[in-house]
Amino acid sequence: MYQIDLSGKHALVSGVANKRSLAWAIAQELAAAGAQIHLSYAGERIKGNVEKLAAEIPGTEMYECDVTRDESLETCFQQVKEKTERLDFFVHSIAFAQKEDLEGKFFDTSRDGFHLALDVSAYSLLAMTRHIVPMMPEGGSIVSMSYIAAQRAVPAYNVMGTAKAGLEQMTRQLAWELGPEGIRVNCISAGPVNTLSARGISGFTSILKHYEERAPLRRNVTQKEVGTSGLFLLTDLSGGVTGQTLYVDAGYSVVL
Ligand SMILES: NC(=O)c1ccc[n+]([C@@H]2O[C@H](COP(=O)([O-])OP(=O)(O)OC[C@H]3O[C@@H](n4cnc5c(N)ncnc54)[C@H](O)[C@@H]3O)[C@@H](O)[C@H]2O)c1
Repeated sequence: MYQIDLSGKHALVSGVANKRSLAWAIAQELAAAGAQIHLSYAGERIKGNVEKLAAEIPGTEMYECDVTRDESLETCFQQVKEKTERLDFFVHSIAFAQKEDLEGKFFDTSRDGFHLALDVSAYSLLAMTRHIVPMMPEGGSIVSMSYIAAQRAVPAYNVMGTAKAGLEQMTRQLAWELGPEGIRVNCISAGPVNTLSARGISGFTSILKHYEERAPLRRNVTQKEVGTSGLFLLTDLSGGVTGQTLYVDAGYSVVL
């Protein structure tokens, strides 16, 4: 029987806000395979939620990390290093844009709104990877979360599409840079899943319905399916894969 055994491996998973978070789905799969889980969370406001979830996986460590602040990143990684010298897996599952920039005209996006969305949702992958790489001396695997708006025009997705296009380019560029270190970098382009962030996209419910009608599987993907795809991309099961965007979208992306 084929088994994935990640015991002794360490995974840092960012972006758990609540039980619906895609990051939580990936963390659960990693934990089920035996990995030690380290969660980074955005700030005090969601700490209670994250604590409750962390308690479901005994031994899980937690660190506050607001990716817009370098001091917060520094402190977070100092704390991670106190718990483990080595990381094997890193999940980047972080995005944010102001509400007004996810509705209305794309060309009305403010300079500040543009900077904030790109800073939190794209630059943070570089800022965190900078801390991660020295902790992966024997190689490792990094996964981030994208959406089809990186490649296509999607109503209301606006500046978040710009951020996701950046994230996919960064995936390729980092894969090139880190390949010689044995570090693979990929992203998942997930179909819509009802999470806190997704509910911020105007018309999200009609997007879910549209996928159900159009996707080859005639349904939406589940949070768990995103989790198991994360497990696949993080582990040796996908050993030869790097720089890729894997669509986990019930096939929607292949249909005209
Ligand atoms: N849910 C979907 O339909 C869907 C589809 C494709 C891609 N994604 C992507 O998946 C990722 C996770 O989103 P989700 O849907 O699980 O929603 P979510 O709201 O559960 O996760 C978003 C996370 O970003 C974190 N975050 C925001 N600002 C931050 C900051 N300054 N510092 C640190 N963390 C910060 C939030 O705390 C939250 O944990 C995002 O990149 C999102 O764009 C989601």
